[in-house]
Amino acid sequence: MDSRFHWWQTGIIYQIYPRSFQDSNGDGIGDLPGIESRLDYVRSLNVSAIWLSPIYPSPMHDFGYDVADYCNIHPLFGTLADFDRLLAETHRCGLKLILDLVPNHTSDEHPWFIESRSSRDNPKRDWYIWRDPAPDGGPPNNWLSYFGGPAWTFDPHTGQYYLHQFVKQQPELNYRNPAVLTAMLDNMRFWLDRGVDGFRVDVIWLMMKDPLFRDEPPNPAWNGINPHDSLLHLYTANLPEVHDLIHAMRRVLDEYDDRMMVGEIYLPNEELAKYYGTPEAPECHLPFNFHLIHVPWKAAAVRQLVDDYEASVPPHGWPNWVLGNHDQHRLATRVGADQARVANMLLLTLRGTPTCYYGDEIGMHDVPIPPDMVQDPPAVNQPEIAHIVGRDPERTPMQWDASPNAGFAPAGVRTWLPVADDYAVRNVAVQSADPTSILSFFRALTALRGAEPALTIGAYRSLDVAADDVFVYERRHGDSRLLIALNFVGAARRLDLSAVARQAQVILSTELTGPRQVTLADLDLRPNEGLILRI
Ligand code: GLC
Repeated sequence: MDSRFHWWQTGIIYQIYPRSFQDSNGDGIGDLPGIESRLDYVRSLNVSAIWLSPIYPSPMHDFGYDVADYCNIHPLFGTLADFDRLLAETHRCGLKLILDLVPNHTSDEHPWFIESRSSRDNPKRDWYIWRDPAPDGGPPNNWLSYFGGPAWTFDPHTGQYYLHQFVKQQPELNYRNPAVLTAMLDNMRFWLDRGVDGFRVDVIWLMMKDPLFRDEPPNPAWNGINPHDSLLHLYTANLPEVHDLIHAMRRVLDEYDDRMMVGEIYLPNEELAKYYGTPEAPECHLPFNFHLIHVPWKAAAVRQLVDDYEASVPPHGWPNWVLGNHDQHRLATRVGADQARVANMLLLTLRGTPTCYYGDEIGMHDVPIPPDMVQDPPAVNQPEIAHIVGRDPERTPMQWDASPNAGFAPAGVRTWLPVADDYAVRNVAVQSADPTSILSFFRALTALRGAEPALTIGAYRSLDVAADDVFVYERRHGDSRLLIALNFVGAARRLDLSAVARQAQVILSTELTGPRQVTLADLDLRPNEGLILRI
């Protein structure tokens, strides 16, 4: 590979949700030794880096996104020694390891918050966001939690409210106090010194709030479903001052060799692009681009999205794409099982770093959660919209084989979330033995991506085609030219691409039909088929 490019540009990031990957000690919850035991599998996917959702000590009110100690490992997942071994083994396999950093809020059990809430004049009082009640005794303003209800909780002991945009056990840090940033940068160094290759930074675009604490205005476009969407988040998200913070975090990464950060940011292109920073003051290496998760799954809409995003990435920025994560309904549920291969072909042939969510490579779908097993706070707090906002369905155990508990945990153990009911047929073992499975397709696709510089560092250009429901684009590097043709519907489509070239060689089909020569004047795509062609 061209040495001017970094691993986080040419490689694929694979997200592991540690609770659900592999349980090694029979408690029904995944752990670090479990992940270590599956590294050969991860390597077989031809990915370059693993991102682990939080593994720090935590009371688990938000499943680890409520951190009680930034510099240790939750006993559920193992020990620091287990972590060091996992990191060493990951590196030995030629893979990188990215940790989740959660700087916006801590757990209410973090020693900083315990001090902060102890009295109004505690030196750590100002590390969090405390406000007096409104004149009627209610919350200081109308800000809302993403997980239902107000973003403020009253603390009777000191007579003030503290801010939390997630559960009330996740008080938000006050980055207007420089000591807070200094402390968080030290937490980063703790892991960088140990050798981690970077961070996925949680809700990075929320880290600064309006210093005047103004009410947020109503959202005129609200569809009446999720109360959090009823306001326009002008004063709790995407404040201009956040960029200074991110640049400070970037400077710490740049003290080390070849580390990176990818920031969680849900914003339109124009705003998202600002999170690269400038060449003089760089910020995120990759600001997560989640647009494929929300776009209507139609060829024309996806083309428009890709072209618009491509146009928005600044010259010093590197694009990236995501199809799923632990907060979003599973890909196979969103686009349907028939389109899951097309979607993966898209993700892995666009220009930019792809992030894949564990299990999507075997086509895992959302798992219905029985009411007594629902655990995710937005679902627990808002039962009437639990089916929309609940995230348990996309966090279920990885399906390794047809044995009880799908090989995730020993037989007889109650797993923390239920295993999908189709695990006996949809699992790694069955699909590895089937040369036509989605897993075999995924491996062929990622192998091809790794072997073709056009797919990683090549230029992108979309093509006008007369057929509906088809998205065609070219990736080009030097003399190497590849066409990707994706059929977004369950009906055959015929294309005339003779303006590009006369003949082409199919090098990969979503149906794994093997290489063949085709005439581009009448290129046939089967229902739900995607092709990669060499011209
Ligand atoms: C991010 C995480 C999500 C978590 C929230 C609060 O959005 O991805 O899982 O609940 O931040 O930390």
